[in-house]
Amino acid sequence: MSKFKKFTQLKKNSKEEVDALYEILGIDKKDKNIEKINPDIPRIAELLEWNAEIEALEEGKASGHTLRVAYLSKKMAEELGLDDDEVKNIYLGALFHDTGKHLISPKILSKPGPLTDEEYEIVKTHVTLAIDLVEDVVPVESLAIIRGHHERMDGSGYPDGIVPTNIGIKILGLVDSYDAMTSNRVYNIPKSKDVTFQELEWCTVPREKGGMGYLYDPKLVEILKKIVEE
Ligand SMILES: [Fe+2]
Repeated sequence: MSKFKKFTQLKKNSKEEVDALYEILGIDKKDKNIEKINPDIPRIAELLEWNAEIEALEEGKASGHTLRVAYLSKKMAEELGLDDDEVKNIYLGALFHDTGKHLISPKILSKPGPLTDEEYEIVKTHVTLAIDLVEDVVPVESLAIIRGHHERMDGSGYPDGIVPTNIGIKILGLVDSYDAMTSNRVYNIPKSKDVTFQELEWCTVPREKGGMGYLYDPKLVEILKKIVEE
């Protein structure tokens, strides 16, 4: 069995999440020689293994975070009526959004307490470190989404501190936060969906208006809520 098929059978993700991966990569699960059909598969399998290692460091064990985030981002893009290419670009950006952490010290990624300022600056580099690792297997549009996924609507994010206009960046930033809030991390316990959406809604309101800052697009928060409650 190929390394890729073995990876996707880790059972950390739902059937829908695994099926979406195959669909985006343009391969049939039953095909025996998927590496021949899509020559990028061995490299993608290696990157997915790295994602699993990163999840294990950050969450205690591989949890399926990246495939879940990619699937939910795809659903959001489809709900917004984006075309097939845009959906694919967003999916692949989401699939590799944290892969740059492969180049960051495991000690920092698995640190249980709060990070020092210096450690946080190191973690922040993952958005640009990812580019060199994945540029051979994803389109440039996906690279922009990876670079921007920690930018926020009020310009308070990183690495550029700009207000995102790219819909893929806005979707991935929100979905990544949602999944981090609802799953087990070394630095937090999972929140319920209700509490998570209450917090995400506060994160669409500027501080001067009593919120936690204008971080996410309120329309997207509404769509995400609808999707996860379906
Ligand atoms: Fe990230």
